[in-house]
Amino acid sequence: MLTASLAIETPELPLATAIQQEVEHSINDLMASLPEAAELSADERRGLIARYTAVLEGNFIYWMTGAFLAVRTEAAREIILDNLHEEVRDSHPHMLRKFALAAHAAPTDKDAMAVYRDLTNVRLFLGRLSAVRIIVMMAFFEGFIQRFMAYLADLAKRQGSTEMEYTDVHGVCDIAHTDGLFRALDAEMTVGASDVAGDQMEGVKLLRTLISSIVEPSEKALAQSAA
Ligand SMILES: [Fe+2]
Repeated sequence: MLTASLAIETPELPLATAIQQEVEHSINDLMASLPEAAELSADERRGLIARYTAVLEGNFIYWMTGAFLAVRTEAAREIILDNLHEEVRDSHPHMLRKFALAAHAAPTDKDAMAVYRDLTNVRLFLGRLSAVRIIVMMAFFEGFIQRFMAYLADLAKRQGSTEMEYTDVHGVCDIAHTDGLFRALDAEMTVGASDVAGDQMEGVKLLRTLISSIVEPSEKALAQSAA
């Protein structure tokens, strides 16, 4: 089994396939780590939805734009542009804002502070514009979002909401987006030998840490957000 930190190319397993398997493994691990929705208090449910919104609403399109700026192949650019068009044309940030408002979970300054450090780490990583690592991170992100939607919708229902457009749309469309990003990865790996060397999972690890803070912020982050 592949570990979370090491994608190894073997004669039987091309590197892009090894990375895809590792990304799927990482998503499975993250999903398995989620607390039972039924065991969360109303305040914990609100906080989780609010931190998710604080991160996704203003950053998803920005990070996908970073992927667009980083890639060098026309094939990858086309795939990412399709994704960006859909995000902007259908105003996914607005969809998410409606979802959070209806669940009485619009993010506060404290919610933003609880994820500030880990969000900053992802932003600084993005700024290095490393094509392969960013595409791997975004493929992980899309794959996670698609799997996470049923859980997020369940939290919102328990908050008394019936506004489910965001979770309905993302539970379906991100399947195609994830596949597209793995095709973009294939294309980019054929041109960026120097970019392929080293730890291709770097962005995934940083984003996974951020998502863990969305789900359950550390005591230290909560103390800082309360200060
Ligand atoms: Fe979206």
